[in-house]
Parts: sequence; structure tokens; C-alpha cells
Amino acid sequence: MSQFTGHHILSVSQLDRDAIEKVFAVANMMQPYAKRQKRTTVLDGAILGNLFFEPSTRTRVSFGTAFNLLGGEVRETTGMSSSALAKGESLYDTARVLSGYSDIIAMRHPAAGSVAEFAQGSRVPVINGGDGANEHPTQALLDLFTIERELRYEGKGIDGLHIAMIGDLRYGRTVHSLSRLLCLYKNIHFTLVSPPELAMPTPVIDAIENAGHRLTISTRLEGSLNADICYQTRIQEERFESQAEANRYRGKFRLNQSIYTKHFQSKTVIMHPLPRDSRAEANELDNDLNQNPNLAIFRQTDNGVLVRMALFALTLGVEHLLTRYEKDVIWHSNKSSE
Ligand code: NCD
Repeated sequence: MSQFTGHHILSVSQLDRDAIEKVFAVANMMQPYAKRQKRTTVLDGAILGNLFFEPSTRTRVSFGTAFNLLGGEVRETTGMSSSALAKGESLYDTARVLSGYSDIIAMRHPAAGSVAEFAQGSRVPVINGGDGANEHPTQALLDLFTIERELRYEGKGIDGLHIAMIGDLRYGRTVHSLSRLLCLYKNIHFTLVSPPELAMPTPVIDAIENAGHRLTISTRLEGSLNADICYQTRIQEERFESQAEANRYRGKFRLNQSIYTKHFQSKTVIMHPLPRDSRAEANELDNDLNQNPNLAIFRQTDNGVLVRMALFALTLGVEHLLTRYEKDVIWHSNKSSE
């Protein structure tokens, strides 16, 4: 994908390394706007249709925030029951209608392949905000952007990275998309830790192996992992047949400071797409890690805004006009950054 303008972003398989570098370069240009040091009104008059048919906090709000920060307006639909899809309307019809009201659409839906189906009826670019257990391309990009930034402080790049992915690798769409993106890089070591029933799907394993990467698969967190990144995930309870089934896996891979010290290096960066399940029976990332400087989860969420701003600018073809429509801010935030 060398040209973003006017294209949907449905899967990470559309991206190559040049495209990723382009997204990251534009994301870096978004820094002063995201920090509200400057304003740009480059998307003044544009409307984002933000359609979330599955629960979401940060993905939905960061898409909206990103669009607002570029000067555009956001129209939002949340939940299946409040939309005409609950009356039997097809994704195609919904897309025909809503693309008439918007200049670009971000969409999340519980069914794998649904966002691509929707895009067929859309007259404007559609960005996949997560389709069931399938893909989450914008999360993968913000995760990779975070990995690159975190490792840069240690003088490392993405090539040669060792990443440990832990938890629900079967239903977790973020690890599917991130693994596929990492297949574009060289000499990656994947350590995949999950219960056997929640193992990474075969097509993703095949992609990792075909890319010639090193793969270690384990059902337990054990030994001293020489990992650069520890990517923890949530048990995706909404994708199980029953709560009871999901409960069988909850709490199996909790991470706290002492478990971290036992299995990871003092520099291992801790990531999680969030939300972390903080209920006592799960406690995926204990609050005692909150003071650990390697906990990157809130840097990830901040980076999400930059990456989504970049994707909007690129798909709407305005990335070269940001400064032309730049303004000074009237309101200054005194909020401290991390
Ligand atoms: C993830 C998702 O929805 O796939 N969250 C997110 O988008 N930040 C992961 C999750 O819900 O566990």
C-alpha cells in the first residue's frame, strides 16, 4: 500500500514497511497538535462516522479525538441494539446510507469480516476498528509505533526484537494483527504463552514460520525470558460460549512486579492493548506495576491518537497541508505528560 488516499484500511496485510514508515512519519508530525500546543483545522468541514457495534472506550474515543484534533466533526453510533442492524438491515445498506453522511468511517463490529463487507457498500474510506477475533490494524500500528519508540531509547530497532505474547492468543485480534505486521521485519523471536485451547491460530503461526522467524510456544510462563517486549492480553470473555468457560482461563497469566522480576529483564517493556481486567480473579497487570517505568500501557494509548490522526490525514490526502492550516492555541493545558 503505497497510496493511502481514498483507500480503506481493513487489514494489516495491505501494509508494507514503506507504508508503515509513512504512517509513523506522519504520526510524529501530529505531536504538537495532540499535545494541544498548536491547532490545525485541515479537516474543517469533514465528518467522521464513528460506528462502534461492540464495546469500546479507547479505540472509539481516540478515533473521535484524533478527528477533532484535525478540525473535523464526529457523528457516532454505539451498540448494535440502537442501530437499524437490529431491524435486519444489511451491512451493505447501512454502509450506503452512512457513507452519505460522512467523509470517512471508523467501524468496529463483533463478526470477523464484517468491516470488509461493510466497506463494499461504502462510498468513503472505511477504517477497521476491530472485526470480531479477526483483525485490529490500527491497534497493531500503534503497538508497533510504541515498540519502536520504546526500543529506540535502548538503541534498538524492530528487526531482531524478542516479543513474548501472553494470554488469550486465540481470540485476541490485537496479537493477530501485530504478529502479521512483525512478519514484515527481520529476525523476530516470538515467545507465545497461552493455555493450549487459547493458542495462536494456525494461519498466524504459518505466517510467522513462513517469514523465517524464531518461534517458542509454551503453556506456562517459565524460566528467564530474554524478551524486549512483554505483551499481555485480556481473556476475550465475549467470544466464549459461556462465562463459565472464560472463567477457566481467567487469572492463569497474571503479571505483577514479582512475576515480572522472575521472568523478565529489568528493561523489558510491558504492553497491553487494554482494557486490563483488574478484577481480583483476573488481575492481568497488577497495580503494583504502575510505578514500573517500563509499563508502557498509557504511552500506548497516547500513541493511539497520533497514529489514528496520521491514518485520517493519509486516507483523506491532507498530510502535506497540516501546517498550512495551523493556528496558535488560545487555551493551554498545564497537564503534565508522562
Ligand atoms: C482490544 C480489542 O478491543 O481488541 N482493545 C482495544 O482495542 N484497545 C483488546 C481487548 O479488548 O482486550
